[in-house]
Amino acid sequence: MSADRLRLAVLASGRGSNLGAILDACRRDEFPARVVVVVSDRESAAALERGRREGVDAVFLDPKAYGDRTAYDQTLVATLERYRPGLVCLAGFMRLLGPAFVGAWAGRLMNVHPSLLPAFPGLHPHRQALQYGVKVSGATVHFVDDGVDTGPVILQASVSVRPDDSEDSLSARILAEEHRLYPEAIRLFAEGRLAIAGRRVLVKETT
Ligand code: GRF
Repeated sequence: MSADRLRLAVLASGRGSNLGAILDACRRDEFPARVVVVVSDRESAAALERGRREGVDAVFLDPKAYGDRTAYDQTLVATLERYRPGLVCLAGFMRLLGPAFVGAWAGRLMNVHPSLLPAFPGLHPHRQALQYGVKVSGATVHFVDDGVDTGPVILQASVSVRPDDSEDSLSARILAEEHRLYPEAIRLFAEGRLAIAGRRVLVKETT
């Protein structure tokens, strides 16, 4: 694995399937990034185990050990800085991150969300989509700003919502798109092909 690949930190609270998709991509020789650390706010997160299995440092940071969100965020920043990541990827990280964290990684912090933002931000996006009755939903990879799922959109992919969809079936269809989009967004970033212009993310063509 070449040392000059983009160094990724991945933050995940749960099962870690997006982390898995990123790790799978990183295993390919021509992929321009590698995961250097996985951090979780949940000790039992499968994502930590997944990271360890791949030989990646996996760090549990217990929110209960810190007095408030700022203290936690500062520790998170300090922990990540030790690994010198070029990009921090949120992949099902369920804690809200405050300005102390977001400011430290501005323009180098991505998230994946299972809806076509700005529709259905926040919790239970699949449920929101089904309750609203939309015919199309999807996945979004975006840069993170101070809001909840409000940062500039990098890539999106749509899926049909079927009349008999449950949260589980819709979520599975969208998840497949997340797994495709997230590594692609990381590749574009690593290749220096993303430029943030206000709310827009411009994707440069290869020459
Ligand atoms: C994904 O649907 C992601 O979009 C959302 O949380 C879920 C995490 O799933 N933010 P996983 O842990 O990557 O499997």
